[in-house]
Amino acid sequence: MSPHAHAPIIRLADYTPPAYLVETVSLTFKLAPNATRVLSRIRFVPNPASSGAFFLNGENMRLISAAIDGVAVAPEITAQGLTCPVPAGAFTWEAEVEIDPQSNTALNGLYMSNGMFCSQCEAEGFRQITYYPDRPDVMAVFDVRVEGTLPVLLSNGNLTDSGKTEAGVNWAQWHDPWPKPSYLFALVAGDLVAVSDAFTTKSGRDVALNIYVRSGDAQSCAYAMEVLKRSMRWDEETYGREYDLDIFNIVAVDDFNMGAMENKGLNIFNSRAVLASPDTATDVEYARIETIIAHEYFHNWTGNRITCRDWFQLSLKEGLTVFRDRQFTGDMRSVSVKRIEDAIALRAGQFKEDSGPLSHPVRPESFVEINNFYTDTIYRKGAEVIGMLKRLVGDANYAKALDHYFDANDGKAATIEDWLSAFEAVTGRDLSQFKRWYEQAGTPRLSVAESWDDGTFTLHFEQSLPQPAGQEPAKPMVLPIAVGLIGPHGNEVLPTQILEMTEAKQSFTFTDLAARPVASILRGFSAPLILEQESNSAKQAFLLQHDTDPFNKWEAGQALARASLRARASGGNDDSERAYLAALGDVLRDQNLDPAFRGLMLALPSEDELAQAIADAGSAPDPAVLHQAKAGLRAAIAAQHGPLLVDIYQQNQITGPYSPAADDASKRALTNAALALIALNDTGVIAENQYANASNMTDQLGALSALLRAGLGQQQLAAFEQQWQHDPLVMNKWFSLQAQFAAPEKAANVAQALVKHQGFTASNPNNLRAVLGALSANHAGFHYDDGASYAFLADWLIRTDKINPQIAARLSGGFAQWRRYDAARQALMTAQLERMGTQPGLSRNLGEMIARMLG
Ligand code: BES
Ligand code: ZN
Repeated sequence: MSPHAHAPIIRLADYTPPAYLVETVSLTFKLAPNATRVLSRIRFVPNPASSGAFFLNGENMRLISAAIDGVAVAPEITAQGLTCPVPAGAFTWEAEVEIDPQSNTALNGLYMSNGMFCSQCEAEGFRQITYYPDRPDVMAVFDVRVEGTLPVLLSNGNLTDSGKTEAGVNWAQWHDPWPKPSYLFALVAGDLVAVSDAFTTKSGRDVALNIYVRSGDAQSCAYAMEVLKRSMRWDEETYGREYDLDIFNIVAVDDFNMGAMENKGLNIFNSRAVLASPDTATDVEYARIETIIAHEYFHNWTGNRITCRDWFQLSLKEGLTVFRDRQFTGDMRSVSVKRIEDAIALRAGQFKEDSGPLSHPVRPESFVEINNFYTDTIYRKGAEVIGMLKRLVGDANYAKALDHYFDANDGKAATIEDWLSAFEAVTGRDLSQFKRWYEQAGTPRLSVAESWDDGTFTLHFEQSLPQPAGQEPAKPMVLPIAVGLIGPHGNEVLPTQILEMTEAKQSFTFTDLAARPVASILRGFSAPLILEQESNSAKQAFLLQHDTDPFNKWEAGQALARASLRARASGGNDDSERAYLAALGDVLRDQNLDPAFRGLMLALPSEDELAQAIADAGSAPDPAVLHQAKAGLRAAIAAQHGPLLVDIYQQNQITGPYSPAADDASKRALTNAALALIALNDTGVIAENQYANASNMTDQLGALSALLRAGLGQQQLAAFEQQWQHDPLVMNKWFSLQAQFAAPEKAANVAQALVKHQGFTASNPNNLRAVLGALSANHAGFHYDDGASYAFLADWLIRTDKINPQIAARLSGGFAQWRRYDAARQALMTAQLERMGTQPGLSRNLGEMIARMLG
């Protein structure tokens, strides 16, 4: 049993308001790599709405001195924090602690990355910086003074003063007027340069914008800066939200556990989520930067001005902010392509999470380690739930409800109830049934049968939500089902309507129809569920050809591809592949379709998705067979459409300088998708040519991955390493391509070699993700039957857990689906889980993950 099997379980039901509130806090940092001193002066007031003992969180620090109202005190200290007798009314707490940023390899709290001081406090990192009530419902105005030898000293809010002492120490004084929880605190000190710009808000406030980077990276900030300004304008125009400080700072750091963090006025970014130049970043990475800059900026209102009462409410800020960044990206690029990409990601990540032992509701009821709950369910399903709400109440009511939400909760730490009540107030609707989307775990299934009777067409729906053994059966959810009807000749006879399903079984009737229509159900993926409909390849091919809804048009192609792959995997033969190949040709030839959409049409369902479908149907998937089925179908597409693919490839070439904007990126998405198939036909001639002549990273990497997926490209791989070994961000691509596309029997060895590469740093989260994350994503390689990849991943998780428990816990998810597979693989995976679980000193993070996975 793991040492953390008894780690305390935190429950939503046990929430109590804080016993003391903080009026003001002032901090002084005397920076030194191994011995930073933090002086705190905090004004506490008893909370009239609560009672309880005085407790301050504090971990991994040494208390030097403490005083209350100027009188020294000797608190009782544990590994989690301290308690101390306090006066009856308000009082001032002063303390000095010493912390060791240089030894902080967990990258949580204050740490160092390549000579720079950097903080990460969400969710519970501030308690490693000083003693404090480190919970999001304690909001306070912060004053921060930073003293150090490094030239750039940053914290939240506005800079009020700065200078240099006689001893040559730099200092800077920051004031953040907006009350905030401790998780939004940030501090950066480094030898950095600022790329600067300015923004004037709609009410005329001038905001200085800075992106702080190492001097060599200053050329790679232009795109992020442009996106930041677009995000600021968009939030004003779309949500009426204006920025509220004189400065907005962004800092890039190489060692960072996540993508980026929304600290008030001082966003901190993983360098790979902010730096971009045409020759080093792909279109996909530019798009990612656009999303993430916008996301963290949008948090200023949905997260910072209105924060979460407790961490169970995490989706209140994350789900909503993801929903907002999706809207932004849709406005900047293509709404329908974005919708399809998000549906792919939801199915790949969230449906998968829901199908195994890590399933949990959008608002969880308990956790051991909150960092294990920054999941696709909180983020992506949380965003889907907001999309459904908007669909149900309509755009105008959504806008009113958001205004109401901002008005009613500004400056507060809010809950999902506060969120829903804004919608109830504005619409008069009762959302108690809708709230089940936040409470019930699992992916609903919706089955549909059709009947036709003399001009009347009926859809008979039945919803279900399987619950784990021993749990109460789920209650019916509110499902917005977008439906359109298409006439037998392909004309739309009924444009999209939202059917609102609230019962377990419910039928919807359409009358006065001249002929039996074909139903297009769940248009736009209007609810995050698994649709089970009787269909056949003729109907799917019909929808692929005629559906006016881009999502369902794409979905029809996926359904045909899935059926074709299943037929191949079971050695059978059905008509779906013929129908699929024919219909695919028509779509590819259709010049009216967005190139990116056509590129998506060329992407087959993942092996992981197929494995899940087979497991759902009651069989154990064979990863090797699925891998072959997919390779076989790709070869069949390449064989049947060879000349067409080359045509498309040539017609969509771009001349002129690189632009990351949607139009060009869309074409490159199509040409590179085509290239991956062409390379199966032409022994890589065109791909080699593209590689040799590429003038941007998208085309260079597109060519390299096309070659690798065709079993070619060793020479280009070596050339790429030569060219980019000086650039750690680019080398991550080189690592992950190899781990992801290694042949199944070689994957573990390839990964083993990569971690020995001189460019691989075991303490760097990006490097770990590039190898371990990519290996887990190589379905046939990770599940190769000798179990070598399982052992390799477990070895590295054990090693990583000692350095960085958050990353180890995150990357352990590769094992979560072990129950899907055959007995031999189950035994191999559970053996590794148990081996990890018995490691001395196992972290609470990885310990909880293993307990849940084995649970
Ligand atoms: N608040 C999070 C960052 C975070 C997550 C900090 C977990 C601490 C623990 C941030 O707003 C976020 O969600 N970042 C995402 C990217 C975003 C575009 C979804 C990330 O870092 O991946
Ligand atoms: Zn976020």
